[in-house]
Amino acid sequence: MAQNVMITGTGKSVGLGFNLVLTYLEAGDTVVATVRKQCDELDTLINNAVSVSPDCDKGFFDANLDYIAKTVDITAVGAMRVIKAFYPFLKKSDRVALVMNISSEAGSISKCFRTNMIDYGMAKAALNMATMNLVNTFKDDKGINFFCVHPGWIRTDGREDNPAPLSSYEAAVILRELFEKKRNDFEGHRFITNYDEDYPF
Ligand SMILES: NC(=O)c1ccc[n+]([C@@H]2O[C@H](COP(=O)([O-])OP(=O)(O)OC[C@H]3O[C@@H](n4cnc5c(N)ncnc54)[C@H](OP(=O)(O)O)[C@@H]3O)[C@@H](O)[C@H]2O)c1
Repeated sequence: MAQNVMITGTGKSVGLGFNLVLTYLEAGDTVVATVRKQCDELDTLINNAVSVSPDCDKGFFDANLDYIAKTVDITAVGAMRVIKAFYPFLKKSDRVALVMNISSEAGSISKCFRTNMIDYGMAKAALNMATMNLVNTFKDDKGINFFCVHPGWIRTDGREDNPAPLSSYEAAVILRELFEKKRNDFEGHRFITNYDEDYPF
């Protein structure tokens, strides 16, 4: 059964503490790892957090439109805030620092087919726009790279009767491999799927 673990002295990647963290995480446990100094280098930032309103499933006439701004604020502006706050650490990476914004096919304007999920779709579209704005902002800086990615259809509710083809673990394995493949790709399309297909904005 998965457990919650706290380990002190985990700041040195060749040390025991750090590697205990790895092994507990690999076993599916939740780990609180402490270090005395702030981590001073970040190679990869994955903006995965999302929030939706209670009216996400409702359409235009039934949804409380006042909920939309909060979803956009948390999901899209929040990702930008995180990038801004952690940019000094990304800048210190000794490789190309990678920012992956976890988007959704629901954020594609040209492929939009839904009449519900208004706040979610608008938030992911805004996240996609944020990604492109950052690509432009850093176009002359080959030290940092940005993508937005549709992570696939995933059973993120953990239910086996969910028809989505991927478990969260399976999706994460695919994404981790994809991210390393994309780190140095400055030319390709910026909105991609988990299978590295270009997706229309
Ligand atoms: N499931 C799919 O098929 C699918 C398809 C397309 C895209 N996606 C995207 O994949 C990502 C993961 O999906 P998921 O279903 O696993 O997401 P989720 O569980 O709904 O949310 C992910 C995390 O967001 C954080 N969060 C929630 N409200 C927040 C707030 N107000 N401020 C900051 N963080 C907040 C929570 O972090 P804490 O645990 O720290 O509270 C939560 O664990 C999301 O970006 C989602 O849009 C999923």
